[in-house]
Amino acid sequence: MNSQPLVHRLNRRLLLSRSAAVVGASSMGLLLPQIVRAQSNKVRVGFMLPYTGAYAQLGVAIENAVRMAIAEKGGKLGGREIEWFKVDDESEPSKGVENAQKLVQRDKVDVLIGTVHSGVQMGIQRVARESGVLSIIPNAGLHAATRGLCAPNVFRTSFTNAQPTSALGKPMMDRGLKRAVWITHKYAAGDEAFEGFRDSYTKAGGTIVKELGLPFPGVEFQALLTEIASLKPDAVACFFAGSAASKFMRDYAAAGLQGKIPLWGSGFLTEGVLQATGAAAEGVMSTLHYADSLDTPRNQQFRSAFAQQFKMQPDVYAVQGYDAGQLLIRSLDAVKGDMSNKAAMYKAMETAVIDSPRGRWTMSKAHNPVQDMYLRVVEKGDNKVVGVAQKAVADSAAGCKMG
Ligand code: BEZ
Repeated sequence: MNSQPLVHRLNRRLLLSRSAAVVGASSMGLLLPQIVRAQSNKVRVGFMLPYTGAYAQLGVAIENAVRMAIAEKGGKLGGREIEWFKVDDESEPSKGVENAQKLVQRDKVDVLIGTVHSGVQMGIQRVARESGVLSIIPNAGLHAATRGLCAPNVFRTSFTNAQPTSALGKPMMDRGLKRAVWITHKYAAGDEAFEGFRDSYTKAGGTIVKELGLPFPGVEFQALLTEIASLKPDAVACFFAGSAASKFMRDYAAAGLQGKIPLWGSGFLTEGVLQATGAAAEGVMSTLHYADSLDTPRNQQFRSAFAQQFKMQPDVYAVQGYDAGQLLIRSLDAVKGDMSNKAAMYKAMETAVIDSPRGRWTMSKAHNPVQDMYLRVVEKGDNKVVGVAQKAVADSAAGCKMG
């Protein structure tokens, strides 16, 4: 006599008869849709990030941290297993739409996490708006994503390009730096970062002597540095990130400008590049929504876990990726993994208070972080916090109408 309870025996019989049917039907080539559906019970998460080129290191930091946040909570989303997909976007705007479609149409991802470069983000934004796929931006500050082209299914865990630089003007003027040159990579991120700098600096009484730029990802800074030397401003303010930022600081020092003309920047200038830059970064001042040395248990725990797992120091890109993971966990937990309940998922993300290594932040109505900006200085190879430059900085969200 079978000692198992009846319900077990019945379930087992059902299972056996179903699997017999699966083998039979699949050998006749009939069962593909059911098999595909069974597999797709996993949440399909796609990374569209730069893994090559000037921003490669930023993409790696983001992916590592997303995975770490989810692993810390048991490695599932809303109780469902995860299937990961990846596309290298190379920070190449002309391939932005095509690469986003690879994830959305070919891989049928449920959520697209990307990207770093604002020009590429424009392609993702188009695809996200057309397809309605949940999209989380872990870096690119493209204004349109949470301004004129905002969308119910698009959320950002990073910043708008004008947010960090909108905190630059006052501390520069407080130090008597009244005439500044602005220099940047000429693409959306640099131009939009200029908006924040121009508004805050001129409002505080500063004068912008000259705007200089070069196309992304060029690193031929020599002629521009010679021009800066001849203009003799009180300070230089800039937007550069990744390997180009390191090269810029090294060239600045080699041109004899370090210590003579104070160098300020949107804080990306000194993120993830301090080791590669060495002494040339010492003394650089910047504003950003994160600093390595933030003395909170949350930040310390994050930093030691990340360093231990990935044998590299975390930076702002890792923090933003980590928070993308936290946001995704919150949204899927709210619906117990049922991603068809979009309204409840989005509501959970809109009302989230994210306990981030950067400090707590909330989501604006346009789906962009409202967050503090720190004033930092590079000291002995570390981004040291000088203080909070501006509290609860919210983007203008100009033109955003959630449809
Ligand atoms: C951007 O393209 O939006 C960007 C890239 C790197 C750092 C910050 C912003």
